[in-house]
Amino acid sequence: MKKIGVLVSGGGSNLESIIEACKSGILKDIALVCVVISNRSDAYALQRAKKNNIPSVFVDKNSFMTYLEFSDAILRELLEYKVDLVCLSGFMQKVEANLINAFKNKIINIHPALLPKFGGKGMYGHFVHEAVIASKESKSGATVHFVDDQYDHGKTIAQIEVPVLVNDTSKTLAEKVLKVEHDLYPKAIKIILEDK
Ligand code: GRF
Repeated sequence: MKKIGVLVSGGGSNLESIIEACKSGILKDIALVCVVISNRSDAYALQRAKKNNIPSVFVDKNSFMTYLEFSDAILRELLEYKVDLVCLSGFMQKVEANLINAFKNKIINIHPALLPKFGGKGMYGHFVHEAVIASKESKSGATVHFVDDQYDHGKTIAQIEVPVLVNDTSKTLAEKVLKVEHDLYPKAIKIILEDK
């Protein structure tokens, strides 16, 4: 069984879909979520971890002098739990070189658009969907990609499209995209863990 560590900052609906896939879906007997790490104590994702009896850790950025120390504290947790794959799931912090070097090609992220479009610094949450609507795109979607030292930049592992309809708002688009993310992320994880 491969061990997945999930980094979160918020709701964690993708975390939930990964947990479900490990319990009874396409990741059953392949992987398990062994730790959930959050930079926010109030992230609902932490409650999801608790409900599923998965160890969770709150790493408080404010208790470190530098960002690197904060990042090292996350690294220590991932190493302690002997994580094979790190999945970012709405993790709103920069991933530093210490993590990228320690987990080469083993850190992945999900982004709510068809990268390389609508990615990069500042492109997160509602900003992404607002930009897609403003550009009058006919389609959007989600992308799972490797994490490198630039925002939303590493190689794409899997993508899924959703149509953008004329009456879509950033809110309706966000809902549609999040829904397909829940299918896509476990599939992408399977591809990685099976080395395909
Ligand atoms: C998702 O839209 C994901 O693409 C982005 O952050 C959001 C996280 O949602 N990176 P959740 O916390 O998994 O519900």
